[in-house]
Parts: sequence; structure tokens; C-alpha cells
Amino acid sequence: MRSHYCGELESGAIDQEVRLCGWVQRRRDHGGVIFIDLRDREGLVQVVFDPDRPDTFARAEQVRSEYVLAVTGRVRRRPAGTENPNLRTGEVEVLGTGLTVLNTAETPPFQLDDYHADVGEEVRLRYRYIDLRRPEMQQRLRLRSRITQALRQFLDEQGFLDIETPILTKSTPEGARDYLVPSRIHPGEFYALPQSPQLFKQLLMMAGLDRYYQIARCFRDEDLRADRQPEFTQLDIETSFLDEQALILLMEEMIRRLFQEVLGVVLPDPFPRLTYAEAMRRYGSDRPDLRVPLELIDVGDLMEGVEFKVFAAPAQDPNGRVAALRVPGGAALTRKEIDDYTKFVGIYGAKGLAYVKVNAWDGQGAGGLQSPILKFLPDACIAGIMARTGAADGDLIFFGADQARVVNEALGALRVRVGRDRGLLEGDWRPLWVVDFPMFEHDEHTGRWVALHHPFTAPKEDQLQRLESDPGGCQSRAYDLVLNGTEVGGGSIRIHREAVQRRVFRLLNISDEEAEARFGFLLDALKYGAPPHGGIAFGLDRLVMLMTGSQSIRDVMAFPKTQTAACLLTDAPSAVDPAQLQELALRIKLRA
Ligand code: AMO
Ligand code: AMP
Repeated sequence: MRSHYCGELESGAIDQEVRLCGWVQRRRDHGGVIFIDLRDREGLVQVVFDPDRPDTFARAEQVRSEYVLAVTGRVRRRPAGTENPNLRTGEVEVLGTGLTVLNTAETPPFQLDDYHADVGEEVRLRYRYIDLRRPEMQQRLRLRSRITQALRQFLDEQGFLDIETPILTKSTPEGARDYLVPSRIHPGEFYALPQSPQLFKQLLMMAGLDRYYQIARCFRDEDLRADRQPEFTQLDIETSFLDEQALILLMEEMIRRLFQEVLGVVLPDPFPRLTYAEAMRRYGSDRPDLRVPLELIDVGDLMEGVEFKVFAAPAQDPNGRVAALRVPGGAALTRKEIDDYTKFVGIYGAKGLAYVKVNAWDGQGAGGLQSPILKFLPDACIAGIMARTGAADGDLIFFGADQARVVNEALGALRVRVGRDRGLLEGDWRPLWVVDFPMFEHDEHTGRWVALHHPFTAPKEDQLQRLESDPGGCQSRAYDLVLNGTEVGGGSIRIHREAVQRRVFRLLNISDEEAEARFGFLLDALKYGAPPHGGIAFGLDRLVMLMTGSQSIRDVMAFPKTQTAACLLTDAPSAVDPAQLQELALRIKLRA
């Protein structure tokens, strides 16, 4: 049907007869001549119809936006002065000699030739096939395809085998709720969709496959955000006989190659690393955005004795934290801006946001400082704060005081928000490995230990003996890859000895019977010669989101779901036929 893509025609094609297929971006009538911008995957070209061929001209007159056409014609140079330097095809146009309307189109729900960012996402998702015609969306999906190609190529060269794992399976705990699928053949029983292929990839190592990868769909029923979808894609990887150092270096090389090949970006070699403890101390987060140069500074020791209880109490509490955040030039912040930041930290549970403005400090006491809390702080304390934060005239210092968790979340988020608001970001790409994670986290509500990664993550060898006596002090062999404040990947060396796996299950309050019922197949497999193994999974959607500069993960998925996990295009989820329910031995009882 076609000799060329519309968007490819350049001056080299002048005088050629071409056959094009595409969509009508726009039709303009100009004093007896009709111009049609014809669009396909590669871009636009201008086609001109003149009245010399009355039949063709008459058909061209009928054409509307988004009609699908087949056009024949001859490529010619555009008349001088009418070139369009913004278009790859801007030097040429096609003199149309034949036109077939392959299909008509109703008026689209939003304009493609004059697209405005204010088109609601709901409309875009409902008519996704039209939204995806936009060059911006096509670019993203094309880049996504190049990214997966580059990753596959690297892994293939490194001897990784692409192996599929089941979608109808058993629960794989990654910290979210499962999506369940009822079984017709086994009434009352359910499959779970995988939250990740975690256990299958481990079994593949036990099967001796040595190096596995898969571009794997994962399903998690959890609260959605801009970087979270209920159904998303991982680049999932597992290896045998590599320790964390070797694996981290290999994965780093893959990501460096990817950025070099696809974006022409040179990432640092090696990537920097931070321990979990240091990341929390300096950034209040285990996924710090290193482009923001601001850091949290502990000042608790200076506050232990002050009369201001808001600061003194958490300073004395072993689970508390009092930290400062210096904002260069922040003395210029208005009352309203500070109020807004106070509201912002409130989202994270902070009960306030104390601050000190450094207008023109006279070097002792509170002279030249401005703050609602100075009256509570002795001179020595003020001098200590100034010295430790290095605040200079024109700066502002924020303070957070509470349980460490609240201070970390609040000031950690504030640091990024202020950094962005004040244009302090440094560098374009700041990858980072976070290592030395704690094995377990204490759940305040249940009073139980929970795995910080997943229950199959190995503890550090030298800490095995204090697993039971000091679970909170044990570190795991896990690592996360963080890029510009987003967790793009996470993995670990796994437990490969049955006895250790059983101990970890017990610590997580999984009884031997429950372990047998849920993970019996894994415990069995560990008895039959399981090699040391470990791996990682990258959030492919998140990686593509960052690499395409998109604001939302939905913009890099062809058919994403809404914040309420619905597909507006197909209207899923939806009610089913009563007969289907009956077959599945299910009855729906709606909550009042
Ligand atoms: P984890 O749960 O950390 O690890 O997931 C790995 C990566 O997947 C991405 N990700 C998501 N992306 C979009 N929407 C979601 N709902 C979502 N949840 C996670 C993140 C994350 O870093 N089996 C382990 C990996 C391993 O140990 O090898 C796992 O799934 O970018
Ligand atoms: P108050 O005495 O409650 O009016 O607080 C005095 C100042 O301390 C105000 O600027 C509050 O925003 C701030 N503040 C109150 N609680 C906290 C807290 N937990 N952490 C940091 N600042 C706080």
C-alpha cells in the first residue's frame, strides 16, 4: 500500500512518485488549493491538491480530521519562503495525484493538531487509541521499546536466559495485597497473580539455569500513586554464584550502557553507594534525590537540656530525632511560603515546622536572627546550631523534632520540595546504591517484626548468630538502586539454606505449619542442592518514566489504569454474568 512513511520524506526524495498512508492531521483550503497534513508514525508531510484533477480535488474537499487516507503523488521542493524548519519534511511537499479515503472518522473528542495540556486525563484514557496518536506519546512508547531492546541485548550477551514464569500462581509476598483468581475446577480455591516472580526465579537457580531474566508483569493491589500501578513491569533478574559486589557491578554496567546507548548520557563509574543508616541520617530517606544538595543535620544533643519541650523531649527519647535543614538564601522566604511548607510537612505527621531566619547574625546570642523559638533557646545552643549548620546571613534553618520516623519523612520530603522550589538541583542524573539495609522493621501496630525487603533475603553472614537475640540490629544482603529520588530497582542475595529460611520465617511470626502450607515447595527445594544465588528487579515503567522525563508512570504505559485501579477504556473491572459466578461457586454479598 505504501512506498514511504510520511514523516520520512526529505529533499532526497524530490521528484519521486510516492504512495503514502496516514491520518489527516489538518486540512486547509487556500484559494483553490487544498493542503492536507498527513500523519503517520514517523511524522507529518504536507500534501497539496490542486483543481487540475477535479475528481481527486473533490475527494480532498470531503476529508476531515483523522480520516485515514492513501495518497499517491510526486515529491517536490516547497516554494521558496514556505519551508517549515520545525518539520523533518519541511523542505518538501507532495503534489497529490490520487486520493483514497480508507476510512472516515468522527470528530475526535480532543484536537490533535492543536493539543492542549488541559485535556483531562480521563478523556485521554477513555480514548487512549487517539491519545496515543500524539507524537509525544509515540516517542515515549518508542523509547520504551528501545530501552527493552538495549536491556535484552546486554543480558543476552552476558549469558542470561529469558524464561517465563506463571501468572496463575500462589501468593508471593512483596508487601501488597494479592489479586486473586477463582478456580472453576477447584471450587472455593484461588490462584494469586504474582506480586513478582521472586520464588520462581529462585527455583530456576536451584534448577541450575545460572542466569535468568524476564520482562515480567507484576500485580499488586496497593494504594496507587504517580509512580505506582496495580499492574506493572519489572526487568527481573537472578544469578547463581555471584556475591553482591559482583552483581551490583554487573547491573551498574547494564544501566550505564543503557543510558549511553539510548540517551547518550554518561553516568558515573562506579555509582556512589550509601548505607541505609547514612541515607536516613543525611537525607531522611532510603531513596534520596542526590540532585538536591541540602542535608539534614542532627542537633538533638544541643537540645537535650532546653526548656522548649517540643525539642527537648524528642532529643531525650532514644526513638526521637531533632534535625535541622539549612536553606541557603532562605531568609527571603515569606510568611506564606513558610506556612505552606508547614502544611506540607503536616502531611507526614509533623506537628510544626520551627525555623530561624539568619538576617545579619552578630556572632553571639540571638542578635540578627529572627524566629518564634529563639526565646526558648540559650545562647550556647544557638551558637551550636549556627556552627553546626554553617548558616550564613541570608539563610534560613528549618527544624523537625519528633519520633525519628516522622522527622525523617517530613524533613526528607521538605528537603526535596525546597530544593526544587528554589532551583537548587545539581546535575541531571544522580544514581545511587543504597546498601546495608536492616533485615527487619518493627511494626508498631502488631508489635511484630516484618521483613524490610522480602522474607527470602539473606542476612549478613557475620550476623547470623544474633538473628534471634537482636533482630533489629541485623543487616541484610539487600541493595536498592535509586535514581533522582526514585527507587528504580531492588534486590538481594537470597537465603539458600533451609535452616536459615526457617529461622527467618519464625522471626516473622510465620509458624512452621504456615511456612509449610505457603512455602513448602521452597523449603523442599532448598533441601535438594540450592546454590548461593541472588538477583534484582528493576521497575521498568519507572525507569522509562525517568528516561523520558515523564511526570507519571501512566504516560509510559500504553493502557494504564487510573488512581482507582480502573481501565477507563474497557471499563474494567466490571460485573460478571451470574452464570459465571455460579460456575466458580461464588456469591457476591455487597457491604451495606
Ligand atoms: P520490589 O518490590 O522492590 O522487589 O520491586 C522492584 C521494583 O519494582 C518497582 N515497583 C513498582 N513499579 C510500579 N508500580 C508498582 N506498584 C511497583 N512496585 C514496585 C520499583 C521497585 O524497585 N522480587 C523483588 C526483587 C528482588 O528481590 O529481586 C521485588 O519485587 O521500581
Ligand atoms: P508552638 O510553641 O507550638 O507555637 O511552636 C513554636 C514553633 O515550633 C512553631 O514555629 C512551630 O511550627 C514549631 N514546632 C512545633 N512543633 C514542632 C515539631 N514537632 N517540630 C518542629 N517544629 C515544631
